[in-house]
Amino acid sequence: MTTFDFNKIREDFPVLHQTVNGKPLVYLDNAASSQVPQAVIDRGTKYLREEHSNIHRGVHYLSQTATTAYEAAREKVKRFINAPDVDCCIFVRGCTEGINLVASSYGKGFIKEGDEILISQMEHHSNIVPWQVVAEERGAKIRVIPMNERGELVVDEYENLLNERTKMVAVAHVSNSLGTVNPIKEMIATAHKFGVPVCVDAAQSVPHMPVDVQDLDADFYVFSGHKMFAPTGSGIVYGKREWLDKMPPYQTGGSQIRTVSFEKTMYAPLPAKFEAGTPAIAAGIGLGAAIDYLNSIDFAAAAAYEHELLEYATGRLGDIQGVTIVGTAAEKASVLSFTVADVHPHDIGTILDQEGVAVRAGHHCAQPVMQFFDVPATARASFAFYNTKDEVDKLADAVQRVIEVFA
Ligand SMILES: Cc1ncc(COP(=O)(O)O)c(C=O)c1O
Repeated sequence: MTTFDFNKIREDFPVLHQTVNGKPLVYLDNAASSQVPQAVIDRGTKYLREEHSNIHRGVHYLSQTATTAYEAAREKVKRFINAPDVDCCIFVRGCTEGINLVASSYGKGFIKEGDEILISQMEHHSNIVPWQVVAEERGAKIRVIPMNERGELVVDEYENLLNERTKMVAVAHVSNSLGTVNPIKEMIATAHKFGVPVCVDAAQSVPHMPVDVQDLDADFYVFSGHKMFAPTGSGIVYGKREWLDKMPPYQTGGSQIRTVSFEKTMYAPLPAKFEAGTPAIAAGIGLGAAIDYLNSIDFAAAAAYEHELLEYATGRLGDIQGVTIVGTAAEKASVLSFTVADVHPHDIGTILDQEGVAVRAGHHCAQPVMQFFDVPATARASFAFYNTKDEVDKLADAVQRVIEVFA
C-alpha cells in the first residue's frame, strides 16, 4: 500500500476512537457524512465561545471578527477549488440547497417552453427533483443520459442527446450509489460545443480528489461541507460570473439587497445577491477550517491511499460467495455498493452494526439506479482516508457473518 500515515491521521478524528456494540467502531458511511477532525471542532468552539455574532452588518468588534472569519473561509474555498473569483463562491447550507438554487434561479432566467434539461441515470434525487420542478414550471423536458451495466455513462448517447433545445446539463462528478467517476471534463467540453452550461453535483468528488473548476471549465460546481470533514449546514455553489450575474436571486430578504423601497428593490452584487438572511456562520467557518485541515495533509497521497483501500475492499468482498458488487465502472471513488444473496440490505446493515461496522443500506436517494440494477436497495460501504485495511477485513468478516446468519 502507499505509504500514507493513516494512524497519525486517525488521531485527528476523535469520534473514530470508540466502541459500538462492544466492538471498535469501523466507520464506513463517509458518503453520507464524513467525520470531523479536532482542528475543525476547535475552530467551531472558538467561534461559539469567543466570536459569536451576526456578520456583515455590525460595526462592533465581535461582528467584524466573525465577518472576517466567515469571509476568510470563502477565500479558502476559492483557493481549494481554484475558482477565479471569490465572489462566485456562494455559501449555501448544503449541496441540495445549492442545486435548488441553481435550478430555480437559472430556470427562471434561461429555461422556457420546449427546452430540454439533460440529467443522467445515476443522479442523486437532489440532482433530479429540482430539475423536474423547473421543467414542470417552465414547460421544459427532462432527458436522461443512460448508463451501461457497469454503471458508466454512455458518452456517445450523451452526445446524441445534446441539441439546440438543450439548456442545461446537470450531472454528478462521482455517483453516490455506484462510485462511478464521470468524465466530467470531457462532458463539459462537449456541452460547451453546443453552448450549453453544465451544473456539476460535486457532493462526492470534493472529499476524494483535488478539484480545479477552471480546468474543468464547470459552469456550476456544487457541494456540501459535511461530506468533506466540515460540520453540517455548510455548502458551496461555485458559478461562473457570466451566469450568476444574470440569474435572479433564489431567496430574497435581508443581506442580499442594495436598496429597498415599496416601489422597487435593487439587489446587492455577488455573492450577497444569493445569500439572503443570516447564514450558518459557524458551519461556514468550519468549512474553512476543514479546508485548512485538508491543506495540512498530503491530500493527493490521501486520495491515492483511499483508492487502494477501495480496490482492496472490492477484492475482499468480491471473493465472498453470494456477494454481488453493484457498480463496477473502470473509474471509481470511495463507494462500494453490494448485495448479499437475497438478504435485504437493511438486514445486512443491522448485522454489520452489531459487529461495529457502520454502512448505509437503502436506495441512497438514487431510486432510478436501483431500478436499473433491479434491486430494491444495496448496502454501501464508503471510505475516507482515515479508514484502514484492517477495517476492510472487519467489513469482510462481518459480511461473512451475514451469510452464516442467513444460510
Ligand atoms: C451525489 C450527491 N448529491 C447530492 C447530495 C445531497 O447532499 P446534502 O444532503 O448534503 O444536501 C448527496 C448526499 O448524499 C449526494 O451524494
